Amino acid sequence: MKHLRSIPELGVDGIVRILGLATHMAEVNRRPVPKVPALNGRTVVSLFFEDSTRTRISFETAAKRLSADTMTFSVSTSSVNKGESLKDTIETVSAMGVTAFVVRHKTSGIPWQLSDWTDASIINAGDGWHQHPTQALLDSFTIMSTLERTPSVDCLSGLTIGIVGDIRHSRVARSDIQAFTALGAKVVLVAPRTLLPPAVEGWPVEVSSSLDDVISELDVLYMLRMQRERMNEALVPNLGEYSARYGLDDRRAKMLSHDALLMHPGPMNRGVEMLIDPASLPNNLIMQQVANGVSVRMAVLFDVLGGSETGAGVVS
Ligand code: NCD
Repeated sequence: MKHLRSIPELGVDGIVRILGLATHMAEVNRRPVPKVPALNGRTVVSLFFEDSTRTRISFETAAKRLSADTMTFSVSTSSVNKGESLKDTIETVSAMGVTAFVVRHKTSGIPWQLSDWTDASIINAGDGWHQHPTQALLDSFTIMSTLERTPSVDCLSGLTIGIVGDIRHSRVARSDIQAFTALGAKVVLVAPRTLLPPAVEGWPVEVSSSLDDVISELDVLYMLRMQRERMNEALVPNLGEYSARYGLDDRRAKMLSHDALLMHPGPMNRGVEMLIDPASLPNNLIMQQVANGVSVRMAVLFDVLGGSETGAGVVS
């Protein structure tokens, strides 16, 4: 695989391959010295045109654990002109001998544009509302490994996963829906009509506007952040009303089935979608998602840069 730009491009076989590699990487991460020489001599550049805490650090940690050299190019959205300046940036940095760019940008489709301008691999760390493929891979890995299942095309079968909140503006939701359903899960979207994408009818999901109606049926409760920076109109009357209808509070936590898993991609808005301390729930996987993010991104970097012919032997 030359690039990782979207879940559909990766396909279900690619998803299963990454989940398998991530299992090896998780084993590397449990070692006293969690570092292998697999990507010695490769250079990975993070190009983040949007804010990020966990995704950027996670990718950089992953690259370092595989012994790649890392560089960071940090730009705030406001100081960047699109078009030529982005082309110039990527061409300039590519000329230094970069093997992969990890890119986050507010514009959907930028990873495809960049791959026309460089021979390096492009890994999408989030493009607009469109895709966030490594988040979907780490979320799939987290559910699979928590339930002690092994990587396969139906490793999430039999599960009902409820994705709750601002689906309309969420690249995480789009990528998760594609990955979860590809692996056999049923996905229920729970949101007010205004926070659903306009064309949701064509998606392979069920839709509900009431969290109370569906919460007890969920095997996984996946909460999303209200993406206020991506809204240009008032889509909810007020946040208090949103919290009352879609927030996870004590009453709803008690409605969850005993072994339901709780997930959130972060950053979490306490007091908006999260009204309890998630750590108070026994099956809170939020920190596990962050930890697994490193293993999954190691798997992605290895798959993109290591060449499949070298196989997982390099890391075992
Ligand atoms: C998400 C993102 O930036 O797409 N965060 C993340 O990468 N973990 C979700 C969000 O911004 O709410």
